[in-house]
Amino acid sequence: MNLAVIYDSKTGNTRQAAEWIAEGMQKTEGIQARAFGIEDVDEGFVKEAHGIVIGCPSYAALMTPDMRTWLLESASKLQMAGKLGGAFATEQYTHGGGENVIMSILTNELVMGMLCYSGGAACGRPVIHMGPIGVNGNVEPHNCMDNYKEYFQIYGERFSRKAQDLFA
Ligand SMILES: Cc1cc2nc3c(=O)[nH]c(=O)nc-3n(C[C@H](O)[C@H](O)[C@H](O)COP(=O)(O)O)c2cc1C
Repeated sequence: MNLAVIYDSKTGNTRQAAEWIAEGMQKTEGIQARAFGIEDVDEGFVKEAHGIVIGCPSYAALMTPDMRTWLLESASKLQMAGKLGGAFATEQYTHGGGENVIMSILTNELVMGMLCYSGGAACGRPVIHMGPIGVNGNVEPHNCMDNYKEYFQIYGERFSRKAQDLFA
């Protein structure tokens, strides 16, 4: 089963998070997980995928304009309806709007007819409420993306298990 992680990333943090999610997905037997930037999506792979996780940096506590454009103009051509959907974000401030970004991505996924999943409290600790968020080390000396590696991997693994439950 194919699972895709699709992201917008200008300076590499969100790309790194996407790769960690794909690594976590690969831990489930029978999953082929790949990560793509929005400028480089393999349409054939994504159309066949049963689940797609979409991620974006926080820009003024919202998704980037490029991600918004991609969701409106390109995603709807990728047969998104009925696929499992998830979302993640990166930011440079602990309270930098990541959950707002996630919620707006999930809203777009719902509009496209996707089935949205975060794992939530049902999976126990670490509890990931809406989707994972990584805070980079640009401005907060105690933070860096590596602090969140395990969260992204665990989220990817949970997402892939749910996709297997639903579609295998
Ligand atoms: C135009 C712009 C606006 C940003 N706004 C926010 C913000 O509101 N909150 C925040 O925490 N970080 C903000 N950031 C920082 C990015 O969200 C953060 O560095 C992110 O990890 C970058 O992802 P990337 O490396 O994948 O491009 C902003 C960055 C840019 C360039």
